[in-house]
Amino acid sequence: VVSVITEAARLRELVREVHRQGRSVGLVPTMGALHAGHRALIERAQAECDLVVVSIFVNPLQFDDPRDLEAYPRTLEADLALVDEAGVAVVFAPSVGELHPEPVWVRVSVLGGVSEPMEGAARPGHFDGVATVVTKLLVLADPERAYFGEKDYQQLLVVRRLVEELHFGATIVAVPTVRDEAGLALSSRNRRLSPTGLERARWVAGVLARLAAEAQPGEQVEGLEAAVRAALAGVELDYVAVADPPLLQRPRQTGPTTRIFLAWRVEGVRLIDNRRVGEGRD
Ligand code: PAF
Repeated sequence: VVSVITEAARLRELVREVHRQGRSVGLVPTMGALHAGHRALIERAQAECDLVVVSIFVNPLQFDDPRDLEAYPRTLEADLALVDEAGVAVVFAPSVGELHPEPVWVRVSVLGGVSEPMEGAARPGHFDGVATVVTKLLVLADPERAYFGEKDYQQLLVVRRLVEELHFGATIVAVPTVRDEAGLALSSRNRRLSPTGLERARWVAGVLARLAAEAQPGEQVEGLEAAVRAALAGVELDYVAVADPPLLQRPRQTGPTTRIFLAWRVEGVRLIDNRRVGEGRD
């Protein structure tokens, strides 16, 4: 049976006790509306940690658009059922006032670099909101490991930078994107699409998969970006970017870790995805 903790102090106490017993803690931060992608994070955490804490918190600080925050699905009962079925015993589901007590005077910022392009440019303040809440969750859960999906690849890199620079002890574990049978990355936003919208989103994801698989090492990035744009003509694109981790700079030519990043809108719903160049071919 899942025990739902809503108080920060209570989570801290529990984790202290677990650590006193010499057991390890794994943190899976989520905003709820859980699906098989989250399930993959949870299962990986369970395989590697003694106690898994799943946090469920729709973080207002990371929404630049109040309508998006309002429309964000909140499905706590179904989430608890999924977590229970996965065998996790502890969920941390604080209220907004508990995690961000008023007045809010402190924000954590990852300045420039990895937080600047793509999502950073499209959603001002978004990564500050993510960095702030992840900092709080890492302080409270004090995990040995924390799990993040590669679907939000830029977020993963921002969190790595945060953890490295603030000397958090936690290891950040990247978990591959989980996709539906048509190759569309699972996202809580997918459930806002009509059947036609879903088909359209799957088509875009398919084009990205094909172009990433076909892209060659040493290919000119300018040409690759242009090919993606041309293949997606008619799609409401937010951005197409080809970039290298860890700083997400745009190389002249593709290398072994280069990725193609995409943000687009279908029926007013904003979706993101990314694929490594050569993914699916090797
Ligand atoms: O990826 C998410 O769901 C959120 O950005 C996170 C990491 C839980 C922080 O609110």
